[in-house]
Amino acid sequence: MNASVRQETGFGDLTVAFDDRVLRPRPWTTAQSFWAAELLRRASGGPVLELCAGVGHIGLLAVAGTERHLVLVDLDGTACDYARDNARAVRPAGSWEVRNGRVEEVLDLDERFVGIIADPPWVPSDATGRFPEDPLTAIDGGSYGMDIAWACLGVAARHLADPGWLLLQLGTRAQADAVHERLSASPELALELMEVREYGDRGVLVHVARSGDRPPPP
Ligand SMILES: C[S@@+](CC[C@H](N)C(=O)[O-])C[C@H]1O[C@@H](n2cnc3c(N)ncnc32)[C@H](O)[C@@H]1O
Repeated sequence: MNASVRQETGFGDLTVAFDDRVLRPRPWTTAQSFWAAELLRRASGGPVLELCAGVGHIGLLAVAGTERHLVLVDLDGTACDYARDNARAVRPAGSWEVRNGRVEEVLDLDERFVGIIADPPWVPSDATGRFPEDPLTAIDGGSYGMDIAWACLGVAARHLADPGWLLLQLGTRAQADAVHERLSASPELALELMEVREYGDRGVLVHVARSGDRPPPP
């Protein structure tokens, strides 16, 4: 078997490294970085969290040019190694850290973030064969594709500051609608769907905000 070869690609005005053991950075996802950067310009001071960060490019582009502390989380050790390399390269004086683990297992109870960027796997398990090039851990979202997305919502409920926002990437409008239904039915999460932006068959971005009238769950 061939050894994986390190490659580089442009992402916005960053250059990021990856190889074929991780998901190749997708150019359209700069939209998530730019939207997050716009929300950050209006946010108070405080750190930013990126869940399911892969090699870290979406979060790194979102905080480029700012002094925000960025916490990058991914389950895959290879992705985390590249995220560290990329952060060192594009943010040499910036403050960042990479945590290797499941989204629900790597945060301390008292950590709060003004913004959370999340890009969980969203393909239903029985449809992952449609994407033979992609690593299974990067795309397999469980029976309905939403297992890790629900975990990210749980993290947002526990760790968003008030005010604060989650910018969640999903695959389809139906998945965004499922988020809306869950938040409407779960006031204890103290989260509210603000806006959905669709990018054809490439994906959707969902803006969720901390609803200010309720305290975050304990
Ligand atoms: C759709 S990929 C996105 C990666 C990156 N944001 C990108 O655009 O290339 C999903 C990522 O989630 C990671 N992942 C899967 N399950 C996870 C979990 N339970 N906790 C944390 N990361 C997870 C995968 O390793 C993969 O890097």
